[in-house]
Amino acid sequence: MTAFDAAAFRTAMSRFATGVVAVTAPGPVGMVVSSFTSVSLDPPLVLFCAGNESATWPRIRDSGQFCANVLAAGQESIARQFSGPGDRYRGIGYLPGPHGSPLLNDVHACVDCEIVAEYPGGDHTIVVGRVRHLDIGRDTVPLVFHRSRFHDGRVLSPTC
Ligand SMILES: Cc1cc2nc3c(=O)[nH]c(=O)nc-3n(C[C@H](O)[C@H](O)[C@H](O)COP(=O)(O)O)c2cc1C
Repeated sequence: MTAFDAAAFRTAMSRFATGVVAVTAPGPVGMVVSSFTSVSLDPPLVLFCAGNESATWPRIRDSGQFCANVLAAGQESIARQFSGPGDRYRGIGYLPGPHGSPLLNDVHACVDCEIVAEYPGGDHTIVVGRVRHLDIGRDTVPLVFHRSRFHDGRVLSPTC
């Protein structure tokens, strides 16, 4: 039993600002996630969480790999397209990466990974990837997801 409902949990989590990542794999297939994060520097590991109801996640799993395409401000339409019905690659420019996962044009960064572990995470699966190739894109403004809306992440102070 919990002392809060699902709506309160969603609201609390929506106060946590994240970046927005288009996870791609050969097919091509893809889905947008906000649950992407780095895990380890040595070895280089990242993760994202895939909903267990996702139709795309089994196709990514079958490929054994994914590329995390970090979206830039102005790429909200890619985020919408990669989370909705229809052809997710319609009008989207990309190149196949060194292992076949699409590298989307003009993104902030591409992080190409081999899937090395999966862990149960309630109604999601925690997917861990070992990074094997990086493309660092233009140093532009990132796309940010906060309170269920897209924002751009501008610099407030030059260092942390
Ligand atoms: C901003 C944003 C963030 C999302 N984050 C996740 C996420 O972290 N994990 C996930 O499984 N789905 C996430 N989704 C939903 C998926 O993009 C997609 O809509 C869902 O997986 C259904 O499509 P599918 O059945 O093809 O997977 C997010 C959607 C949006 C718009």
